[in-house]
Amino acid sequence: MSNQLMKKAANIAQLRSIARSRIPGFVYDYLSAGCNDDLAVKNNRKALDKVYLQPQYLTRSGPAQLAVDILGRSYNAPFGVAPLGLSGLIWPGASEYQARAAKSANIPFILSTVASISIERAAECAEDCFWFQLYPPTDKNMLHDLMRRAVVAECKHLVVTIDVPSLGIRPRDIRNGLTVPPKLTLGSFWQILTRPSWALAMARHGTPEFETIKPYLKSAGNMAELSDFIRKTLKDIVDVDLLQQIRNQWPHKLIVKGISGTEDAELAIQVGADAIIVSNHGGRQLDASIPPVELIAAIKNKIGQKVPVMADGGVESGVDIARFLSRGADMVFSGRAMMYGVAALGEVGAGYAIELLREELNQVMGQLGCEYPNAMVDHSVNRGS
Ligand SMILES: Cc1cc2nc3c(=O)[nH]c(=O)nc-3n(C[C@H](O)[C@H](O)[C@H](O)COP(=O)(O)O)c2cc1C
Repeated sequence: MSNQLMKKAANIAQLRSIARSRIPGFVYDYLSAGCNDDLAVKNNRKALDKVYLQPQYLTRSGPAQLAVDILGRSYNAPFGVAPLGLSGLIWPGASEYQARAAKSANIPFILSTVASISIERAAECAEDCFWFQLYPPTDKNMLHDLMRRAVVAECKHLVVTIDVPSLGIRPRDIRNGLTVPPKLTLGSFWQILTRPSWALAMARHGTPEFETIKPYLKSAGNMAELSDFIRKTLKDIVDVDLLQQIRNQWPHKLIVKGISGTEDAELAIQVGADAIIVSNHGGRQLDASIPPVELIAAIKNKIGQKVPVMADGGVESGVDIARFLSRGADMVFSGRAMMYGVAALGEVGAGYAIELLREELNQVMGQLGCEYPNAMVDHSVNRGS
């Protein structure tokens, strides 16, 4: 790893603090906050802290190898980049940077339906590491067209998010009056003024747009119109019937994201999902949700080895990824931590956040004497109270 970068930030927490000093307060709030009283975000953290890992120092093993085979393909590490909407507001070009960094690290990159670059652009940048996250639109033509575009772009993994049947209540965004483009109140003007590198990057790139969705607007449309369109259109409730329709049409791997219990896991598998992501949307939807890391073991017990069980929620280090793996996750995703890298250091930070997580995970696996990621689960794990 580059010494120069290590001196700037030696872990994700340090990246986050640089990020905070580089992006306006209302943008940091958008990225970091959860819903309601932020309890789910805090509980994701607390639950991870309760997972203890137990080494067996006297049993020899080979050096750690992070590569995993999952859903018919090999990746260089058991973690990937989670989908984040409105990515261009956090840092202009963020999704392109992340997509390219994921490709070069050979890990999955999931593009959100409402990210700031299009399916086609993400596919160019991430190539065969590109996964597309779908919020199914109520308009069936648009739904079919989004899937058609993903197929044409040679996307082989469709991630359907099921955990947004109603919009999360995010008090910080409400107080900040978060809009795209940012509405210039005295407060936001001051916040932008004091973050000149973000303001300059934004001026160079122009206002972030929802590029994947733009073609469906009847008129050229301004951002306010587009945001309104998204609110009204991308809101279909994903039940078994809709999931089945999507399964019937989607020719490649189908992953269901937002699984919060064994019943949904079983239903998703019955419908034909190839994998599930246990997730509480980073604590942005239901403040009283159960932290994903606490759900994995029960879900694995129930469904056995039928499909890979992936997970996200609260990852701030390679140690956290190890914790998820030790509970049985086959692949782990990170949302905010990855984005703190970009907000702190721009394009170089996208790759650097991945490198940091990789190095830390490698160290933990070495410490535990685990040669492969799936060996983590065999390790005795104590859970703190
Ligand atoms: C700012 C922000 C935007 C998000 N946008 C989406 C989205 O568009 N689609 C989606 O499926 N999940 C979205 N998520 C949830 C993430 O994909 C992921 O589940 C969550 O961030 C994982 O938690 P972590 O940030 O603690 O790693 C978003 C999360 C954040 C923080």
